[in-house]
Amino acid sequence: MPALFVPALALGAIGVLLYHVVAYFTSPLKDIPGPFWAKITDLWRFIDHYHATQPITQRRLHDELGPAVRIGPNAVSLSDPSLLKTVYSTRGHFLKSDFYTVNDAVQDGHVIQNVFGTRSNAFHGKYMRPIQKLYTMTSILTMESLIDRTIVSLCEQLENRFMSGKNAGKTCDIADWIGFYAWDVVGEITFSQPFGFLKSGNDVKSMIHTAESVMHYFGVVGQMPVLDKFLGKNPYSPIKLPTFANAAGFCAQRLMERLSNPDLEKGQGQKDFLGRFLEAKQQYPDVVGDNEVIGYLLLNMLAGADTTAITQKAIIYFVLRNPQVYQKLRAELDAASLTFPTAYDDARKLPYLEAVIQEALRIHPPVGNVLERVVPQSGLTLPDGRTIAPGTIVGMNQWVVTRNKELFGEDVDIFRPERWLCGENEAEEEYSIRIKKMKEYDFSFGGGNRICTGRFLATAELFKVTSTLFSKYDMELEDPSQEWTVHLWWFVFVDNIKVKLSPRAEKAK
Ligand code: HEM
Repeated sequence: MPALFVPALALGAIGVLLYHVVAYFTSPLKDIPGPFWAKITDLWRFIDHYHATQPITQRRLHDELGPAVRIGPNAVSLSDPSLLKTVYSTRGHFLKSDFYTVNDAVQDGHVIQNVFGTRSNAFHGKYMRPIQKLYTMTSILTMESLIDRTIVSLCEQLENRFMSGKNAGKTCDIADWIGFYAWDVVGEITFSQPFGFLKSGNDVKSMIHTAESVMHYFGVVGQMPVLDKFLGKNPYSPIKLPTFANAAGFCAQRLMERLSNPDLEKGQGQKDFLGRFLEAKQQYPDVVGDNEVIGYLLLNMLAGADTTAITQKAIIYFVLRNPQVYQKLRAELDAASLTFPTAYDDARKLPYLEAVIQEALRIHPPVGNVLERVVPQSGLTLPDGRTIAPGTIVGMNQWVVTRNKELFGEDVDIFRPERWLCGENEAEEEYSIRIKKMKEYDFSFGGGNRICTGRFLATAELFKVTSTLFSKYDMELEDPSQEWTVHLWWFVFVDNIKVKLSPRAEKAK
């Protein structure tokens, strides 16, 4: 038997090689340029993602090879923004790819889909319908006092630990504290109960770290989803992989507590998300059961905390690195005489603040991968006439599109909020054409029928926290020559923003 093993292995290897050679020469994507190994195997992009270099690689390849680049035997990265509305259409003709199935959870041996990961429009429509209205700006603003509670808690912690008594002048890693805030606010609006990160000043039970590891796994293994069957979805996998199991258990616990004691919803007169999901359960009993409620709760935690934290950190980092921006923002905030914490309705009227937020989302989008979709039966015709066959995985990486010089100007690598405003020598009409285009092709929150569910919640938070922190405190980088640490994963996590904080002498606190 062992004597046959080596020839069998050799035969197998020759078979695999032959398969790839034939696939290479007969591929309907022959006309699309790309690295040699990318045309042969998905291992090429798996390795690129493993090394966390994919946004840089993809940007370089698009610069060298044009708007369509092979990144896998059956995968094409696109960079022409005029295709955004086609690939990410509101009618959802281009379904999400298998990449997203890696995100599915396994419970008692069964794969459980969720509204983020599902490939099915029918599933998505069915389970989004009961909760869609909870995420409109009007609905989010009914929960504003829950956000305020967490902002007050953030400020209390920052003042006690870094600005008063013997702690005055102590260095603060604001990246950590924004992370704690972003998770606690999700706890507050979802369960009327923060997770306790701000209070403890720690990553309680390593929840944040685990979520980061899960996202890393998702982004890398998602390049070859078949591997997930042997790893994450394999109950006998010898490798212990990070999972959402603890987070799901946490949500299940909160649900059980609430069902046995509805008074736990101690929001100031308004319902939190859990209360609203339970209403949806009553209203749509055929669709929403306890498992679905747990799924919705989990999505708030896993899609809502890190994304918002990353953007908030980017805003602070880039404002601090650009003293002119800092001064302009500060002047606008002071002139507005804001309350503490800033009311969203006041903050949203401030054009420079809005430009700062938009520019941070442009220069540092929180998602660093191609948002993969599958070409439908009708195929895809590129603007230059080339066609992409049905079944091909296509998509765009925000880190490529947001660096498009025709759209955003030659200085795309620079943080310049002014690009979102009317220039001093720019005619009003010229500006309105330019800004319309920039906004039309801005897909920081994704697009089409799978656009980010939580975009209004994120927007309200970013306006409120940015305006509150910059009007209440003086903030500077401890060492302006020190750059932050960036991890180019599926979520582009950032750490290490060391600052000095002090309360403002007077004026707009
Ligand atoms: C600045 C903050 C945020 C950014 C930049 C962001 C970005 C995105 C992007 C780009 C997508 C599309 C992903 C894809 O097509 O693969 C997405 C989807 C999603 N986001 Fe967000 N997000 C943010 C905050 C939030 C928050 C606060 C929540 C919830 C509380 C949330 C919930 C979701 C959900 C549920 C989806 C899946 C939507 C679907 O497939 O129908 N996000 N987000």
